[in-house]
Amino acid sequence: MFNLLPPLATDPILGLISRFQQDPRQQKVDLGVGVYRDAQGNTPVFASVKVAERRLLESEQTKAYIGPAGNPDFNLKMSELIMGVQHSRLADLVLMQTPGGCGALRVAAELIVRLAGFRGASAGTRPTLWVSDPTWGNHIPLLGNAGVEIKTYPYYHADTHQLNFEGMLQTLGKVAEGDVVLLHGCCHNPCGADLSIEQWQAVSDLANSQGFIPFVDMAYQGFGDDLDADAAGLRLLAEQVPEVVLAISCSKNFGLYRERVGAVGVISQQPNAVASHIANIVRGIYSMPPSHGAAIVAEVLSDEALAKSWREELETARTRIVSNRRQLVEQLNTIGADGRFDHIARQKGMFSFVGINQQQVAKLITEFGIYMVDSGRISLAGLNPTNLDYFCESLIAVMDT
Ligand code: LMR
Repeated sequence: MFNLLPPLATDPILGLISRFQQDPRQQKVDLGVGVYRDAQGNTPVFASVKVAERRLLESEQTKAYIGPAGNPDFNLKMSELIMGVQHSRLADLVLMQTPGGCGALRVAAELIVRLAGFRGASAGTRPTLWVSDPTWGNHIPLLGNAGVEIKTYPYYHADTHQLNFEGMLQTLGKVAEGDVVLLHGCCHNPCGADLSIEQWQAVSDLANSQGFIPFVDMAYQGFGDDLDADAAGLRLLAEQVPEVVLAISCSKNFGLYRERVGAVGVISQQPNAVASHIANIVRGIYSMPPSHGAAIVAEVLSDEALAKSWREELETARTRIVSNRRQLVEQLNTIGADGRFDHIARQKGMFSFVGINQQQVAKLITEFGIYMVDSGRISLAGLNPTNLDYFCESLIAVMDT
């Protein structure tokens, strides 16, 4: 029977990992997957994480089940990290550990589908989830496969490299009551263009006037401006909008990619009922999340000294990316780019669109061994002193083709 299944192409982002690894060229450059790299091109384990792991190894007493909600210390500490300890809606938030931000997104989408059933949507009517155009490539399958209908709102002008806020507002101004609108909390993936706090305010006003539910995907807290500033939009929504959904990832800001650590959250007036449904959904998908990664995060955030050292390590990673953005633009202008890529220095987080077409991307990969997503999205963390000039020269070389 399985011979009925046609083989599929590899994932457009993850497939780049093996393509890059198989490339024998010495001078190859990996600007594909969003993984932080240091100036030597490594993705080291945070020192604070190593300390926490050593402690856990010594102190862990059991490997018994932890239950669908995961680690309670992790849930508490992450609630405080994301909302701020003083936030007035902390008590309305239910937050539960999930296997990565992907697990959080999927559980949230399942909850949205379930909620539509309780709202009386007739069988077969799918709830609508609005995503930005563009958005992270995996949002659409990950959320859509849960049974939501995906629609898009304009977000970015590819030609001017600016946020299309007017277009966004126009579309969100027509969104129906009860629809869900996915927003990138900070460091928009793939375009790096974020909302200002005034723009978050306008979205909040629209959510209240239209009655849509904001759903904030926070995968890069700490990589934009700082941990608090990056959560400012989400905190504002949580203050002002009765119901908000959250998906959080610890992959990047704790460097725990392969441990799969994240959290799903809902702010509402019925946190206990919501919690019971999330636990029920989780039980029906993967039963409960893995323990190790969340135990590390809980240990780091519970110890003041360790938390401080983690914050410093995260800040080092953030400033390296900011400096990569600046150096890239300077070098490109030095060799004749004439301001064409200046948007990259203004944008935030791991990613920006270079602003090249698919043929030019293909040429960079095949002729120069420089890997990036088809859309021309680059991961800025992949640049370092040994490959910056090569990347700039290669980019300029493909610009005229
Ligand atoms: C990315 O966008 O490159 C990362 O979020 C990794 C992934 O899973 O796609």
